[in-house]
Amino acid sequence: MAGRILEVVAMGHPVLQEISLAVKNPLDPDIQALIENMEATVDHLNCSGLAAPQVGASLRLVIFRVPKTTENPAYQLTPEYDPEGVPWTVMINPEISPLSKEMTTGWEPCLSLPGLMGEVPRYHSIQYTYLNRHGQTESRTAHGFHARVVQHECDHLDGILFPQRMTDMSTFGFKEEILKRMEAC
Ligand code: NI
Repeated sequence: MAGRILEVVAMGHPVLQEISLAVKNPLDPDIQALIENMEATVDHLNCSGLAAPQVGASLRLVIFRVPKTTENPAYQLTPEYDPEGVPWTVMINPEISPLSKEMTTGWEPCLSLPGLMGEVPRYHSIQYTYLNRHGQTESRTAHGFHARVVQHECDHLDGILFPQRMTDMSTFGFKEEILKRMEAC
């Protein structure tokens, strides 16, 4: 990949609390370069999603995927996991509409909260619309873990980190401790 690996900022950095600006022209060379750099960064970090504010760019741009199989224990703990996965997707100016009020709770990590995880309620089923990297409108429906990843990443564009969505803070903690106890069950 041609892109450059970017530094990911952690909770406490003000850019993670901002409402990001809409991307005016997805084909702008600066935006295309940011996409390439974010792709290089997720590839390097071997993660599932990254929102532009996490690399210091306050823009409505997200890249994510749902892996078919994964060694990430946080995903294996998610009963709603879709084994089919979703290929790498670049979303510009995404909009989410819940398809019902049904919420499901699942574990989430975040690159900006290294080592931490917590149980977060999210809409089970959503529709989302975005511009792809070529500036074309695309729309999908998503359920379960796929819907969770999209909601988590899009929250970054509104300055919201997953602990702000949690309803049971007793589940917030360090992955190392939580996974140790789960394996023991
Ligand atoms: Ni995150």
